[in-house]
Amino acid sequence: MTRYSRITGTGSYLPPKRVTNAQLAAQLGERGIETSDDWIVERTGIRARHFAEPEVATSDLAVHAARNALEAAGRQASEIDLIIVATSTPDMVFPSSATILQNKLGVAGCPAFDLQAVCSGFVYALTVADSMIKSGAASKALVVGAEVFSRILDFTDRTTCVLFGDGAGAVVLEASDTPGILASDLHADGKHVEILCVPGTVFGGKVHGNPLLRMDGQAVFKLAVGVLEEAARATLAKAGKTEADIDWLIPHQANIRIMQGTAKKLKLPMDKLVVTVDEHGNTSAASIPLALDAAVRSGKVRKGDTLMLEGVGGGFTWGAVLLDF
Ligand SMILES: CC(C)(COP(=O)(O)OP(=O)(O)OC[C@H]1O[C@@H](n2cnc3c(N)ncnc32)[C@H](O)[C@@H]1OP(=O)(O)O)[C@@H](O)C(=O)NCCC(=O)NCCS
Repeated sequence: MTRYSRITGTGSYLPPKRVTNAQLAAQLGERGIETSDDWIVERTGIRARHFAEPEVATSDLAVHAARNALEAAGRQASEIDLIIVATSTPDMVFPSSATILQNKLGVAGCPAFDLQAVCSGFVYALTVADSMIKSGAASKALVVGAEVFSRILDFTDRTTCVLFGDGAGAVVLEASDTPGILASDLHADGKHVEILCVPGTVFGGKVHGNPLLRMDGQAVFKLAVGVLEEAARATLAKAGKTEADIDWLIPHQANIRIMQGTAKKLKLPMDKLVVTVDEHGNTSAASIPLALDAAVRSGKVRKGDTLMLEGVGGGFTWGAVLLDF
């Protein structure tokens, strides 16, 4: 019998501190940096984002999302035999946030590792977990996207600091004799490092270089729309499906205009697009599982629906996963 993988539960968590555009604009204004709710909404669709308190780490957000996903799947943490955390803002240089999460869940023994593909991290992690389940290396995986991007924002740069937020999303992915994940398509092209990066590093006991996010927004925008269409089409072709089979498009939540552009290219009506960027901002690797969980809990996404998840981000990395929920 063919072995597939299937999502059996979703969960998410946002830190309680919600910051509206108007609140952020007022804080930036005190430092002489001009922005407005109107500009942010019109250019990005973002109305608010959540910021974690300074003592809260990625694994703290991840543990809430993971517990919610485990509860939705009807599973105990002790039943999980693989933990992957997609993040670019880990708790520390090492060990991984995945091992810290494992300990916070009160379990030990199963493999746990972080996966770093920036905003494509969750589709990468889901694909790795799917492959490990199909190969028999795992049977019940916890796949998490969790970030505290507020830590790496330059609050003197209005072109980036209004775009991002903190949060975590998680799924339980289990072996199944029915699909599940139908196909996925992952890519990277390292020549685009410069257009979206955090170039600093730890060197000789000090931070060496700029440890804050830098982005050429227009270059990222152009690349994103093109590769998201390509990845969606390649994934549909691998699964022997067409756009008409997609019930919900759940793209990385970076900018409403990129998301609408992708839906349009795929000839999908806008009401098939799951949008949470308005309330979450761009939460990088957390954005897709956060959006998925919001759509599941609001009753939009139902069992049996066909979902196209799509990520794009620094690297450049991009990819898509098509699945029957
Ligand atoms: C960043 C982004 C919102 C900027 O939107 P844009 O329409 O391209 O805007 P521009 O960069 O052309 O800037 C237009 C003007 O707004 C100004 N501006 C930039 N940020 C601003 C802000 N927060 N508030 C007010 N004005 C701002 C610029 O300085 C520029 O002013 P100028 O015309 O006087 O030079 C858009 O490029 C984008 O979303 N890119 C993709 C980003 C992304 O998705 N990143 C994550 C990928 S994982």
